[in-house]
Amino acid sequence: MKCKQNLFLFILFFFSLTLCAQEKQKRIEINTRKLSMIFTVDNSNRIIYQYFGKKIEAPNSTFFNRGFVGQPDSQEDLAPLMYPSYGGRYYLNPALKLTHDDGVLTTDLIYAGSDSKIIDSNRKETIIKLKDRLYPIYLDVCFISYLKEDVITQSVKITSQERKTLKVENIASSYLPVHAESYYLTHFNGTWAHEMQQEEEKLKHGIKVIESKKGVRTAQAQSPSFLLSLNHMSQEDYGEVYGGTLAWTGNFNLSFEVDESDRLNIVTGMNPFASTFSLSKGESIKTPEMIWTYSDKGRGQISRNLHDWGRQYGLAGGDKLRPIILNSWEGAYHNFDEKIITDMIDDAANFGVEMFVLDDGWFGNKYPRNSDAAGLGDWQTNTKKLPRGLPYLAEYAIKKGLKFGLWIEPEMVNPDSELAKKHPEWIVQSGKREILPMRNQWALDLSNPKVQDFVYETFDQVVSQSPYITYIKWDANRHLDNVGSTYLAKDKQSHFWYEYVNGLYKVYERIRAKYPNIEIQLCSSGGGRLDYGAMKYHNEVWASDNTNALDRIFIQYGTNLFFPAMATASHVSTSPNHQTGMMLPLKFRFDVAMSGRLGMELQPKDILGEEYNVAKKSIEDYKLIRPIVQFGDLYRLVSPYNGTDWASQMYVAKDKKESVLFAYSLNYHGRTTFFETRLKGLNPEKNYKIIELNKKSGKSSFPNEGEVFTGDYLLKIGIRLNITDAFASSVLLISEL
Ligand code: DGJ
Repeated sequence: MKCKQNLFLFILFFFSLTLCAQEKQKRIEINTRKLSMIFTVDNSNRIIYQYFGKKIEAPNSTFFNRGFVGQPDSQEDLAPLMYPSYGGRYYLNPALKLTHDDGVLTTDLIYAGSDSKIIDSNRKETIIKLKDRLYPIYLDVCFISYLKEDVITQSVKITSQERKTLKVENIASSYLPVHAESYYLTHFNGTWAHEMQQEEEKLKHGIKVIESKKGVRTAQAQSPSFLLSLNHMSQEDYGEVYGGTLAWTGNFNLSFEVDESDRLNIVTGMNPFASTFSLSKGESIKTPEMIWTYSDKGRGQISRNLHDWGRQYGLAGGDKLRPIILNSWEGAYHNFDEKIITDMIDDAANFGVEMFVLDDGWFGNKYPRNSDAAGLGDWQTNTKKLPRGLPYLAEYAIKKGLKFGLWIEPEMVNPDSELAKKHPEWIVQSGKREILPMRNQWALDLSNPKVQDFVYETFDQVVSQSPYITYIKWDANRHLDNVGSTYLAKDKQSHFWYEYVNGLYKVYERIRAKYPNIEIQLCSSGGGRLDYGAMKYHNEVWASDNTNALDRIFIQYGTNLFFPAMATASHVSTSPNHQTGMMLPLKFRFDVAMSGRLGMELQPKDILGEEYNVAKKSIEDYKLIRPIVQFGDLYRLVSPYNGTDWASQMYVAKDKKESVLFAYSLNYHGRTTFFETRLKGLNPEKNYKIIELNKKSGKSSFPNEGEVFTGDYLLKIGIRLNITDAFASSVLLISEL
């Protein structure tokens, strides 16, 4: 009997111990509506990265404790930490690399508490605190979860309390470990007028790095946005995909390392190259935010999550419809006078355009801006070209029913300018080395507060000339080389890249504090800057200087994987196209531009005869579909990359009552071939009527135009269009009855 009692007591004791251990396992969960990110604290106080993916609805009371408990080279050594630093048994690319003031190269981070606060009904902030086991180094790893949009952002702040200088050699924004059979990375490359070109590859063992060391033009050659698909190439509507985009307008580094246990380790953040940062006692630095989302239903959902997030949190004025613009650049370049501009405004008004933007060439007197060789930096109106100044033009536009906008490039200077002569010390320069020009210009050193003041004041003076200047196109036509600063101390030159970008952000902050409502276009030689760090202060982006509609289909496809259509300025230009020499029908050019924020960039008086009607009708139609394109959900139907020479996409209004479908033929398909596609995003239980907009010569490419279809039919069987000719296109409006 006694024996039985003892056994019972032993079992009770064992279970209570287990329960105790389970209760003790500290777990930190970051959730959105459909996602969970989970960390636990192990026995040695390290934070283990347990999970990021589809929401765990019924979590175990304990997670497998994968801490450092085994043999030195056992599997446990490979347990992923929330934020791995160089030190201990960690041999992969770390998120953090420090050199302490006594020369010690390693860091050992342990859990030091966590805090969370509800920001509002959609956002929660969770801060996980870390400290070094031996040194007075403190990190706040900050997560913000966006419930409805299924987005989680991560950034890190480091504070040193070491007596002497702490060297921060690398501080990433985030680390993400993933385990699957295989990994497929979609990333983007490009060059001027050929931005955001998609490439997808299977990751092999070793490290794949996507990075920029160019400063200013962050996204022209490589982009800080990517997709990561598990087990197969990423698909539009199925499969597990992570979407990541770094909100940083400077050098970045994204590393994807498949290790010996076949785990993928993703480290993302500012590029540590030539950027060691020295922290004195009490000083801190903060990383940019890494924006993450995940979908188990393919890359389509990744885009819709990021678009919803972008409209709400990632760009300026994401709740306001964008106007239709005529931009003067390709219609006039630097060669205009007042009459040419007022004529363009008159013509724009006739077409139903809503805003006129005067591009480059309006400033400089001693060094007039008659080409890109002179005048940059001298932001006074050229009195020869525009004797009555900008206020006159802005008022003229308003009288014609158009808003007025203006181009500036305040971060740059031509050697032939009054500014360059007056402030040579403001120019980015590396000691006594030659300052290399690019597009005949030098860059101003934004790490210098005086330069920040100058850039801010330039903006302020330009827009305060007239209350009718309500839009600014902010250009930046070179990247940085031979970098250095006359402002930063000798031992702080490696702070340049960090201070430069933060200097730019300080300027943006001041501008937005004073001008919250002015519309600003992010333009850096076209899509040279395409990151949510800059986008936050801008309403839209000029995705490329390439206005050729065929190329735009590819460029906008890449751009719209991460950024919404409302923020994608897309202009109809003349034929032959100025960048490519290609000749495309005006309808095709409009149909492509209408899938983003529509504009024109040509001499409007050259649109004559039948083309005049096409342009006028397209603009009218765009006004009809604008709310669906700009606020709706994007569903990609046919990718231009799939080799069929067709491309198609839909925008569906949030209430699913209306949608618009764009279909493009990119080549000749043969007489008997039709374009066929199933539709997406509609309500299967509703009936829809389909009409074609902007028809070619009044004839519909949709044989069943005007008929009613069930949503179910359209989703399962779809439609057929007669767009077999090269550069034929259709725009269909699909409305619930
Ligand atoms: C580059 C821009 O991308 C163009 O649209 C135009 O604004 C030129 N710069 C002007 O110099």
